[in-house]
Amino acid sequence: MIIILVGAPGAGKGTQSDILRERLGMLHISSGDLLRDNVKRGTELGKIATKYMVDEGSLVPDDLIIDMITHRLAMPDAESGVLLDGFPRTVPQAEALDDALDLKGKMVNAVLYIKVEDDVLINRLSGRWICKTCGHIYHEKFAPPKVPGVCDIDGGELYQRPDDTRETAVKRLVVFYNQTRPIIEYYRERGLLQEVNGDQTVEKVTQDLLDCLR
Ligand code: AP5
Ligand code: MG
Repeated sequence: MIIILVGAPGAGKGTQSDILRERLGMLHISSGDLLRDNVKRGTELGKIATKYMVDEGSLVPDDLIIDMITHRLAMPDAESGVLLDGFPRTVPQAEALDDALDLKGKMVNAVLYIKVEDDVLINRLSGRWICKTCGHIYHEKFAPPKVPGVCDIDGGELYQRPDDTRETAVKRLVVFYNQTRPIIEYYRERGLLQEVNGDQTVEKVTQDLLDCLR
């Protein structure tokens, strides 16, 4: 199974992926997490990506992203099923994914669009905190940790993403509407798209996503 989660910044793709990968026993591949790992390790890709991700809130060029993801998809742990979060984000990326899967006799099985209004998204991003060690996602109001700044799961320190400032979050939202929304039509035309209301409790959104996969 190849499942794609699409949604604007802050829609809940990462939150839901963490739950769905457990429930469905699937590998979760997040293009944003892979890029942030490259930034942390100081790789060439990481150095290039920082300019786009943090300084501009824009998309990293397609060729770099397609290379990164096709390489990850070729690893043995991706054989049995993948939950893609944040990729594809442009029509050329969607086409490249189709081509890569086609070579292996596979195809995208479902595309789930998590829809949330803009004002809700901005509030979610500015209050997001993430565990440095396990990556668990919190929100200071909507999903707070028991002790501020400390992960409930492993006691790790929580941090805020540098692209979660209000200014960069607004830029990322504009990029979503201009460059990523066309993939919603791309998948709708292929009969793969299903929409879920992302402005509900985390549990209800999970339930609706699972219902789409029945
Ligand atoms: P990426 O890391 O993919 O960021 P994004 O798409 O902007 O999405 P986010 O991770 O910000 O939001 P999310 O939907 O995962 O929400 P979350 O679950 O955390 O990409 C970052 C950057 O990398 C891009 O800007 C780009 O530069 C680059 N990039 C990545 N992929 C690329 C690609 N394919 N091509 C080119 N460039 C690429 O939730 C957000 C907050 O809301 C949390 O605090 C959470 O606790 C809270 N929350 C979640 N669900 C709920 C709920 N139901 N109710 C209340 N609060 C909730
Ligand atoms: Mg995310």
